[in-house]
Amino acid sequence: MKRVVTKSGIALTLLAGLPVRILQIPAEQTLQLRQSILWPTTTLSQLVLPEDSLGKHYGAFLVDRDNPVAVISLFLENIPIDKGVAVQPAESVQRSVRFRKFACDSQHQGKGLGTQLLRYSLSMARSQDGATHAWCDARTAALGWYERRGLVPFGSEFDKGGVKYIRMKIDLQTFEPST
Ligand SMILES: CC(C)(COP(=O)(O)OP(=O)(O)OC[C@H]1O[C@@H](n2cnc3c(N)ncnc32)[C@H](O)[C@@H]1OP(=O)(O)O)[C@@H](O)C(=O)NCCC(=O)NCCS
Repeated sequence: MKRVVTKSGIALTLLAGLPVRILQIPAEQTLQLRQSILWPTTTLSQLVLPEDSLGKHYGAFLVDRDNPVAVISLFLENIPIDKGVAVQPAESVQRSVRFRKFACDSQHQGKGLGTQLLRYSLSMARSQDGATHAWCDARTAALGWYERRGLVPFGSEFDKGGVKYIRMKIDLQTFEPST
């Protein structure tokens, strides 16, 4: 796999012969995949997050497509406290990024796009925003996928909109984007 990051922050990844660009995109460009992959019974407008304007949004694009085939949104947000126990030690200097609404078009899942998009966006959070940790509310169905990429679960399982979740985090100081 060939990986090129240009001065404009664009990553060009050749994935099994498939050229893929990863670009920072406006929040609006994430809505279609948020809806079709994550919440198909909702409307696009219901998938706009109040904090979208504060986040950074990335999309993976195939060369011949104007719309992304995978999206992710990142927000600077502290790792939450679980059941009154501080997961984030008070004495440590941490700057955490939360990633949300991570989705890959079902026709393109299993080709490595999600892995590349997660790695790229977390490496940008580390280099551009000084993030030391990343976390997410992971669907329990995706727990194994995240564990294989170095995230660890914390806290208790919970339910949102009939979907089961578990919180997961990763230390970006030990995270290796190129492997
Ligand atoms: C979770 C999700 C974003 C991952 O994206 P993806 O593009 O399918 O993920 P990848 O292709 O990188 O990885 C999937 C598998 O394909 C395999 N794979 C197949 N071809 C590959 C290739 N050419 N390069 C790398 N991995 C490849 C990987 O090994 C991986 O398997 P593993 O998890 O057993 O290691 C995507 O599956 C998705 O949208 N799922 C539904 C929504 C969802 O659950 N979102 C997360 C909410 S918390």
